[in-house]
Amino acid sequence: MEILICKDYDEISAKAATAVIGAIRAKPNLVLGLATGSTPEGLYARLAKACSSGKVDFSAVTTFNLDEYVGLAPDHEQSYRYYMNKHLFDWVNVDKANTHLPDGLAPELTTHCAQYEAMIAGAGGIDLQVLGIGRDGHLGFNEPGSSLASGTQVVTLFRDTIVDNSRLFDSEDEVPRFAITMGVQTILGSRMALLLANGESKADAVRGCVEGPVTAMCTASALQLHPNVVLILDEAAASKLQHLDHYKWCQQAKGQLAGRL
Ligand code: PGA
Repeated sequence: MEILICKDYDEISAKAATAVIGAIRAKPNLVLGLATGSTPEGLYARLAKACSSGKVDFSAVTTFNLDEYVGLAPDHEQSYRYYMNKHLFDWVNVDKANTHLPDGLAPELTTHCAQYEAMIAGAGGIDLQVLGIGRDGHLGFNEPGSSLASGTQVVTLFRDTIVDNSRLFDSEDEVPRFAITMGVQTILGSRMALLLANGESKADAVRGCVEGPVTAMCTASALQLHPNVVLILDEAAASKLQHLDHYKWCQQAKGQLAGRL
């Protein structure tokens, strides 16, 4: 795992944007995995700006989102389709026909999950997956206890997640109890993963992800099995890492091997 410690949220967003823009320039028909939540908003704002100034071209990019609430229509303000249009898709020159999210209104959820998984495979797999992390260590909506071998699946949300996400709904009762999410194996199948986290509330989850045992109790810990993952963190999110000094040293020392890797 490569760990980059940033001074603040702005720097996290800037570094993540540089990585995504670089990946699209290197492969214009990139298959990009996307996340929702507060964390990637700064990244998406930067991508929108870069696209409008001609620095990146989304016209051949295909996207797959991690998850969607069961029961919310695409035009529901709290659906993740709505979020993605609002924060990214309406601002970049991506072909919306090439932007995919699980369908929270699918009549047969299990069949739909298998279809979503097949669509990802059909697109050639995910080249770069953007990730956030939940306070409970979830990746996508893979809550504690979710199988580390899972493909796209229907999950029951954890109470912590419902409480965290209720800030965006009129009341806690309105937060859906179920979601469709890419599974942990789907995420591990991406060729590169970029996990962003900021703030002290994520510090325990980040520690579990990086230094904890690989366990379904913190599904982000499965990223230890991913061959190419970069965590972009601020000091607060990184504050509980036992080997923080070492990670900072690695970050500094990397330049010394420039040209030899
Ligand atoms: P957040 O959510 O970015 O809103 O903190 C992250 C997540 O739950 O994965």
